[in-house]
Amino acid sequence: MKKIDLHDYVATVKDYPEPGISFRDISPLMGSGLAYREAINQIQEFAKDLNVDLIAGPESRGFIVGSPLAYALGVGFVPARKSGKLPRAAVSASYTLEYGGINELEIHQDAIKPGQRILIVDDLLATGGTINATREIIEKLGGVVAGVAFIIELEALHGREKIMEAGEVPFLALMEY
Ligand code: PRP
Ligand code: ADE
Ligand code: MG
Repeated sequence: MKKIDLHDYVATVKDYPEPGISFRDISPLMGSGLAYREAINQIQEFAKDLNVDLIAGPESRGFIVGSPLAYALGVGFVPARKSGKLPRAAVSASYTLEYGGINELEIHQDAIKPGQRILIVDDLLATGGTINATREIIEKLGGVVAGVAFIIELEALHGREKIMEAGEVPFLALMEY
């Protein structure tokens, strides 16, 4: 059977949501049973030696990657939610985006126990702001970042370097643009 190329399942939209941004849309990948499973399987393979206790993913698209991965690995999923959505005590961190200004993420205080190993996942790495904010919260709670994984990395924005500046961690990106 021919192995599928995940690049065939990314739609590029020029000048969205702002002039100068090339939006990399993973909707076709999610919409294909084959491509979605292939992407999650590849991340699962990366995770298997990382001794992961929990998966964390930032709202919204991180949920699409993190939930099936947590299920496949048989571990829990911790959502990092945009501010004001969590009903109980939470820890937060703010960040700036490639587009769209300043945002804040929050994780419930009791979602992570000190020493637990967390794999952070998202659909796409751009400037690294989202992931470093997620990481900051996890580390405030005493968690250990076991690795970070993305479907897409936008190399020109140097997010990977930003992540590593906060401390070296195992890294996976299934595709680079
Ligand atoms: C997008 C994408 C990543 C983030 C990457 O999320 O899903 O989470 O931007 O950018 P960064 O590396 O510069 O932080 P967005 O905040 O647009 O929201 P969504 O996931 O709810 O669509
Ligand atoms: N999030 C931040 N930058 C993005 C881009 N260029 N395409 C899709 N999602 C993004
Ligand atoms: Mg996102």
